[in-house]
Amino acid sequence: MKIDTKLTKISRNVKKQKGFINPGIYKGSTMIFDNFEDYINDIKNDDDRSTLYGINKNPSVEQLEKGISILYNCHDTIIAPSGLAALVIPFFAFLKKNDEVLINDTVYSPTRTFCEKILKNYGVKIKYFHPIKNIKNFAKNINKKTKLIFLESPGTATFEILDIPLITKIAKKNNIPTVLDNTWASPLFCNPIKLGINIIIDAGTKYINGHSDVLIGFVSSDKKHSKEIRITSKTLGMCPGSEEVYLALRGIPTLNLRMKQIEKNTLNLANKLLLHPLIDKVYHPALPNFPNHQIWKRDFTGSSGLFAFSLKKKFSHKSIEKFYKKLKIFKLGYSWGGFESLITFPPLSKRTFKSEVKGNLIRVYCGLEDSQDQINDILNALKVLK
Ligand SMILES: Cc1ncc(COP(=O)(O)O)c(C=O)c1O
Repeated sequence: MKIDTKLTKISRNVKKQKGFINPGIYKGSTMIFDNFEDYINDIKNDDDRSTLYGINKNPSVEQLEKGISILYNCHDTIIAPSGLAALVIPFFAFLKKNDEVLINDTVYSPTRTFCEKILKNYGVKIKYFHPIKNIKNFAKNINKKTKLIFLESPGTATFEILDIPLITKIAKKNNIPTVLDNTWASPLFCNPIKLGINIIIDAGTKYINGHSDVLIGFVSSDKKHSKEIRITSKTLGMCPGSEEVYLALRGIPTLNLRMKQIEKNTLNLANKLLLHPLIDKVYHPALPNFPNHQIWKRDFTGSSGLFAFSLKKKFSHKSIEKFYKKLKIFKLGYSWGGFESLITFPPLSKRTFKSEVKGNLIRVYCGLEDSQDQINDILNALKVLK
């Protein structure tokens, strides 16, 4: 079955949905037992992770879990109330006092904040590595205390591509679980299990939902790690809102259509910006001159809507504000993955390795508006910078 057909079929069971094409919304905490024996058996489970209760058992949550597991070729998926809530779960599941975790320095900044503000207080050491430099010597970052490797590729804001198979090979040799935040690629443009990853994070808030009206996160894992992930998630009381689950399920059938259009629009804009005299660099892994482009080509099957460009010089806050005010289509706002194009100006100051970005860094997300309108909007706004 080809992907467009598959996306319309997974996570749906028309018979169970009483003929309706979309699954229903089940709301609630309490679930009533059929009989006393079932209740006694439920107590025998002796935990609160699989018991008959709203956190653990909800028909549409289970449908979405199964669908995401199919898309990621994984054994199991759990659903959290946001991408950020999802990505903290593997840290809680696999780390304890005196352990060390390895993270690429270009990670999504709230992942770093979680590590610095919470994980450190539990006695876990956080080590950041450069996503490209010295990567051939990656094994040198590992010692007996390394118990988790957390990756994000492409990196946030500067979009460096990691050599994931190189890292996972070393991790496997040392029996260290690997996690990848795969939100940028979505299940359509990267298959992390094939690259040797054990646990996948996807902030479904972005592409899976696709309409900027939901916060939701997925943790998909292989057989070896799925039990620990489920136990940790349920022990922490993680569960998504039922309407969010419904909307994420509704996003799946159009995922490929949206991703393909977003990819096209984004490449059109990125290629146009390459030629602009004010622009120093365009940070997009699918551009042939971008560092590790060959690795992107090897490991990914497409590129998505988020990239950045840097200006040749550092313009003042006031000038950048003027540039932003000229924009009619690109709106100033966090997140991405919806139909609306967005712009932000990400700071890189928290990174361990000094950034090589010269002038101002501008991050853009290309949504579903007309491609030429998007290009004209940015080019027109750039005219105010001199
Ligand atoms: C790469 C990445 N991972 C995770 C998240 C967190 O997702 P959420 O906004 O659902 O918490 C984001 C949000 O921007 C992100 O960019």
